[in-house]
Amino acid sequence: MTEREFTPALGRFAPTRFYDLVASVTRERLWRGLVVGHVAARADEVVVDVGCGTGSLALLLHQHRTGARIVGVDPDRDMVERARRKGAGAPVEWRVGMGDSLAEILGAASADVVVSSLVLHQCPMAMKRAILAAMAAVLRPGGRLVVADYGLQRTRAMRLAFRLVQMADGKPDTQPNADGALPGLIAEAGFHDVREAEVVPTVTGSISIYTARRG
Ligand SMILES: C[S@@+](CC[C@H](N)C(=O)[O-])C[C@H]1O[C@@H](n2cnc3c(N)ncnc32)[C@H](O)[C@@H]1O
Repeated sequence: MTEREFTPALGRFAPTRFYDLVASVTRERLWRGLVVGHVAARADEVVVDVGCGTGSLALLLHQHRTGARIVGVDPDRDMVERARRKGAGAPVEWRVGMGDSLAEILGAASADVVVSSLVLHQCPMAMKRAILAAMAAVLRPGGRLVVADYGLQRTRAMRLAFRLVQMADGKPDTQPNADGALPGLIAEAGFHDVREAEVVPTVTGSISIYTARRG
């Protein structure tokens, strides 16, 4: 995989037009709501959703009417177009771009909060590291990071359930998440106060919500 290639939303499993349907079996209302709570965006803040896909999280953040400026970034033009249509005129900004190029797209130290959901598990290790480094670069000092993704799969049932995701996205990219690599990778990228704030069991494996702060 070259740096500019990316795994599509549903991997080998299905075309991206089915993404919202598939995402709905992951208890997304529960975990997306928890993410919004951890973001706690304030007026005049800039919130960037990295790998925004069809825009579900960015649009939910907008619906909370905090007054924050919300920007969704994703390398898949088709997904970004779906997000734009789904938003139907909502004042969310949509950008096509890779997660490791955030500072080039938006400017270094230009964001107060970076969020990302279900992206890192489908990236190769080098790209996970590059995206986290780019998240740190685009955040202002003290800026907040909230990542929701498949994390440490603690029980046999969750490890079995996660195999579905591994079949779609491949074991090499997904296994580090299941082994609990994300908190270490987040800290390695220069974030402080790294915390696994929530663990939500789903039929596709458990989704963890990690919070951290840029130093
Ligand atoms: C499983 S979908 C999740 C979409 C959305 N965040 C959500 O919660 O529904 C993964 C998304 O990550 C995007 N993606 C894959 N590789 C990426 C990368 N290197 N940088 C940024 N986004 C990436 C894909 O295009 C896809 O839209």
